[in-house]
Amino acid sequence: MRVLLTGGLGYIGTHVATALLESGHEVILLDNLVNTSETVLEALKTLAKREGLAAENLTFFEADVRDLEALRFVFTASKPEAVVHLAGLKAVGESVALPLDYYENNVTGTIHLLQVMREQGVFTFVFSSSATVYGEASQPPFTETAPTAPTNPYGRTKRMIEEILSDLAASDDRFRIVSLRYFNPVGAHESGLIGELPRGVPNNLMPYVMQVAAGLREKLHVFGDDYPTPDGTGVRDYIHVVDLARGHVLSLNYAARHPGYEVFNLGRGKGASVLEVIRTFEEVNGTPVPFAIVDRRPGDVAISFAATDKAEQTLGFRAEYDLTDMCRHAWQFQKRLLHEQTER
Ligand code: NAD
Ligand code: UFG
Repeated sequence: MRVLLTGGLGYIGTHVATALLESGHEVILLDNLVNTSETVLEALKTLAKREGLAAENLTFFEADVRDLEALRFVFTASKPEAVVHLAGLKAVGESVALPLDYYENNVTGTIHLLQVMREQGVFTFVFSSSATVYGEASQPPFTETAPTAPTNPYGRTKRMIEEILSDLAASDDRFRIVSLRYFNPVGAHESGLIGELPRGVPNNLMPYVMQVAAGLREKLHVFGDDYPTPDGTGVRDYIHVVDLARGHVLSLNYAARHPGYEVFNLGRGKGASVLEVIRTFEEVNGTPVPFAIVDRRPGDVAISFAATDKAEQTLGFRAEYDLTDMCRHAWQFQKRLLHEQTER
C-alpha cells in the first residue's frame, strides 16, 4: 500500500516508516517540523539504504495537518491508499498551560485530515492514541473496554479524537479505523541512526536517564518513592519502539480488511518501576545514573500496564524486546549523538 504517515519525522514516526518499508509498503511522510528537523529525514534514508530497503519508496512533504489546502495538495500528488496519523503535540505539562494549542493542533488537525480523506476516497486510518486516556478510572491491567478518564488536556484530546473516530465509522461504513493506545514507548532502532530527540528538558523518564548518563544533566529526579508499588516508585509498561512500530503494520493490515472502528492497546503487559529502569540501564550499559528522590509529580498514576490479549488474539501482536534491549538501544542512539557532537 501507499501509506501517508503524518508526524512521520517524529520519534515514533521514523520507526513506523522503517517498519512499513520493511513490509514492502510505500511511505509518504508528512510533518510540519514543529518537533523535529529535516536532518532526521537524511538519517531515515541512510538507515533504509543500509538495511537494503527501497529508499526511493520514501517521500517527504513539509505540511501541517490543520492546513486543508496543503493536505489536498499532498493527497493529489501522492495518492495514498491509507493513513497512519501520528502528528500531534504530546507534552502533558505544556497541554495544561496551552490547552487551546493542544485542542487546535490535535483535534482540529485530525478533523481536517479525515475531511480530506473522505473527499479523496481514502478510508483506512490508524491513529496514535495513548494509555493516558485510562487515567485513574480503573485498575491495571487496563483492558480496551475499561472506563477512560484522562487527567489532562493532552489526554482529553486523545479521548475526543477516539470519540470522533468511533462516530465517523458508525456514520459511514466505508471507514476502517483503528486507534492504538500506546503505553510507554522507549528505546531506538538497533542501528543507532534514529531515536528520540527531545527538545529542551526531557519530560519523560528514559530520555532524562540518558542525558544524566551522558553527563548532560547532574542527576535524575525520581518523582516519589511512596507509591503503593513494590519499591515505592511509579510502575509503567515500557515497550520497545521497534515493537510498537511493528504493531502499526499489523494494525494497518487489520484495518484494511475490517470496516468499522476498533481500539487496541500496544504494551508488553508488564510493568517496571523507575528504580528498576535505572538499575537495568546501569547494568546493561555500565554507566552510572545518579538520582535523588523528590516529591511526586502532579497527575502521575502509581501503576499503569496493559491488558494485551486483544492485540495478541486479533492482530497477532506480541512485544519481543525486553527492558534490557530498550536500555541498550536507547543508549546506542544517545552515544552516536554525543559522538557526532564531538566530531563537529
Ligand atoms: P514526536 O513529537 O516525536 O512526533 C510527532 C511529530 O508530529 C513531530 O515530528 C511533529 O513535528 C509533528 N507534528 C506535530 N503537529 C503537527 C501538525 N499540526 N502537522 C504536521 N506535523 C505535526 O512524538 P512521538 O513520540 O513520535 O509521538 C507520535 C504520536 O504518538 C503523537 O500523536 C503522540 O501523542 C502519540 N503518543 C506518544 C507517546 C510517547 O510516549 N512518545 C505515548 C502515547 C502516544
Ligand atoms: N519519572 C521520574 N522522573 C522523571 C520522569 C519520569 O521519576 O524525570 C517517572 C514518572 O513519575 C513515572 C515514570 O517515570 O512514574 C514514567 O514517566 P514518563 O513521563 O516517562 O511517562 P508517563 O507514564 O508519565 O507518560 C507517558 C507519556 C504520555 C503518554 C503515557 C502513556 O508522557 O504522553 O506515557 O502511558 F500518554
